[in-house]
Amino acid sequence: MELKNDLLLRVAEGKEVERPPIWLMRQAGRFLSEYREVRAHAGSFRQMIANPDFAIEVTLQPIDLIGVDAAIIFSDILVLPEAIGLSYEMIPQKGPFFPKTIEKGSDIDQLHEIAEGSNLEHTYTAIKGVVKELAGRVPLIGFAGAPWTIFCYMIEGQGSKTFSKAKKFFYQEPALAHKLMEKITEASITYLKGQIRAGVNLVQIFDSWAGVLDKNTYSQIALPYIKAICDAIQEVPKTVFAKGAFFALDDLNELNCNIVGLDWHTPIDFALGKVKDKALQGNMDPALLYSKPEQVQEATLKMINAYPKGRHVVNLGHGIYPDLPRESVQEMVNTVKSFTYI
Ligand code: CP3
Repeated sequence: MELKNDLLLRVAEGKEVERPPIWLMRQAGRFLSEYREVRAHAGSFRQMIANPDFAIEVTLQPIDLIGVDAAIIFSDILVLPEAIGLSYEMIPQKGPFFPKTIEKGSDIDQLHEIAEGSNLEHTYTAIKGVVKELAGRVPLIGFAGAPWTIFCYMIEGQGSKTFSKAKKFFYQEPALAHKLMEKITEASITYLKGQIRAGVNLVQIFDSWAGVLDKNTYSQIALPYIKAICDAIQEVPKTVFAKGAFFALDDLNELNCNIVGLDWHTPIDFALGKVKDKALQGNMDPALLYSKPEQVQEATLKMINAYPKGRHVVNLGHGIYPDLPRESVQEMVNTVKSFTYI
């Protein structure tokens, strides 16, 4: 379908744009009262994902209510472990929890391929519905977790400050660890290709826990699998967001991807020195949105002006916090939309 607003795709492809596009990580989420209403109606986060009608509705909310330049499908990176045999719960105020985790070789052997009729079908159905409802207004972003981040959850079973259990598994059982990483990678490629067939226009890989590794380890155990995913996906542009991995920017520059996401710890000029021929995405500290509208406007313009024309996708350095004032998010979006490159 012909897109009316293709700013994001033009930046991804290195084409001319009159202004940078803006979308926000976790834009379909709790900072919107309309999201909270749907969630209350659905019963739980997992029921929202499992019911395409709810997922479609909350995916469209930031487009209709805030006016961002791209939609991101409402789902979670953790639907993938579920599809290969490790299901999770989402505990309110706490986050994800896996009742069963990977502890030994036989646990890995018990994982299966993505079956016909798996839970991922809900996401594919939601994507088709969103594409129809968008009718080309803006592009739709699909996503998956990077293998390392998925591995972290499958080993630890929940969030962690250090993910030392996941690291320990890698250092003590490297062969098994690589076997698991391969299974995750293969399933992720299948999942992303399914999303592309259903209609997404770009895919983003979230490596949320990249920052717990050191440079050498990251390049040995995490990057090769991201590379495999990027190489396997040729159909649409790709964004790789490795949170906390300022040390890997030169390696990320070598990937077959179009956009590299930045967290707010990474100075923009530092990133520009490492990532030479791709667009960058980010990287305002979400907490800046607690400040007054004038400050939000100033910070947004400062960020835009720090990037070269046409190589920037405006975003935050990580997801929106649930209690961020909606007016500030709106101010950020309005500032970007009234900006023109000279
Ligand atoms: O708007 C969007 O960005 C699309 C939807 C989306 C969600 N999760 C919905 C969600 C996306 C892209 C994700 C990715 C995701 N999920 C990541 C990678 C990005 C990141 O944040 O680093 C990770 C690590 C997860 C795993 C996950 N899901 C955690 C750790 C949590 C709990 C923390 C929290 O924010 O509550 C979730 C829950 C989750 N995923 C929510 C949403 C809207 C909140 C659930 C609720 O409504 O109560």
